[in-house]
Amino acid sequence: MKAGMSLDDPSSKRQAYRLKKEENRKELKHVKIDAKASSEKMDLPRKRFYRQRAHSNPFSDHQLEYPLSPDEMDWDRLYPHFVDEATGAMTKEVTIADIGCGFGGLLIDLSPAFADKLILGMEIRVQVTNYVEDRIIALRTNHAETNAYQNINVLRANSMKFLPNFFHKAQLEKMFFCFPDPHFKQRKHKARIITNTLLSEYAYVLKEGGVVYTITDVLDLHEWMVKHLEEHPLFERLSTEWEDQDECVEIMRNATEEGKKVERKKGAKYVACFTRLPTPEIV
Ligand SMILES: C[S@@+](CC[C@H](N)C(=O)[O-])C[C@H]1O[C@@H](n2cnc3c(N)ncnc32)[C@H](O)[C@@H]1O
Repeated sequence: MKAGMSLDDPSSKRQAYRLKKEENRKELKHVKIDAKASSEKMDLPRKRFYRQRAHSNPFSDHQLEYPLSPDEMDWDRLYPHFVDEATGAMTKEVTIADIGCGFGGLLIDLSPAFADKLILGMEIRVQVTNYVEDRIIALRTNHAETNAYQNINVLRANSMKFLPNFFHKAQLEKMFFCFPDPHFKQRKHKARIITNTLLSEYAYVLKEGGVVYTITDVLDLHEWMVKHLEEHPLFERLSTEWEDQDECVEIMRNATEEGKKVERKKGAKYVACFTRLPTPEIV
């Protein structure tokens, strides 16, 4: 702890907690956690120590690290259980992305449902990303005997800027946009995570037949997302019958922290899902 800090002061308490967690994170973040490495249980992180202002400007130049191309990404550090020990190569690639994953609830519920897929959360806020990392480290440690939660991880990233640096063309099967920031004022609409330009990037990283999932409690944002996706030539809306039988829609409605908040307030949840259409041939 820094000089002059007292543990009675809430901000010092938070600082001390964060420092302790940071040391733990540095040590375990990229380590292969398994029953051989650990038998001790670990406390789940406490959200109140990771408070951060609600919004982070997606246009500012955060000091973000990103690979020059997808081939330069060290996925083995995020998913050490999926590395072939003989060759050192990854045995799988990420195929599911949760864009703006917040505190990671969706990742955690998707993990057992898609145990053979690698799932990545992308989050722009530092403390929120730290929380998700600490949550995954604790879950991996506490389930070391079963190797659960090895298929999920999180990256601090601005997914409005660097998506093609992380993913190859047609790499993803599913992209989730759960309760994105609404940016209510008209002059802020350009900061919304679904725009015409960004949709072309999402279409690039999604494979044909892949699915974009959206959910929000803000009707205006729902209509905005539907309008932009419907207008885009590479997306087509899926029916409500399709939504009703899809496992991910069920998980998405109930798993995320924002979704739970809306549930407690008995608010509405608007869902819209779109399939990635085949790219037309240029003649
Ligand atoms: C309202 S929260 C929803 C979080 C989560 N999806 C849920 O449903 O609980 C929106 C999240 O998106 C993150 N975010 C906003 N813009 C982003 C961007 N360009 N790249 C990555 N994350 C972003 C925010 O920091 C915030 O945590």
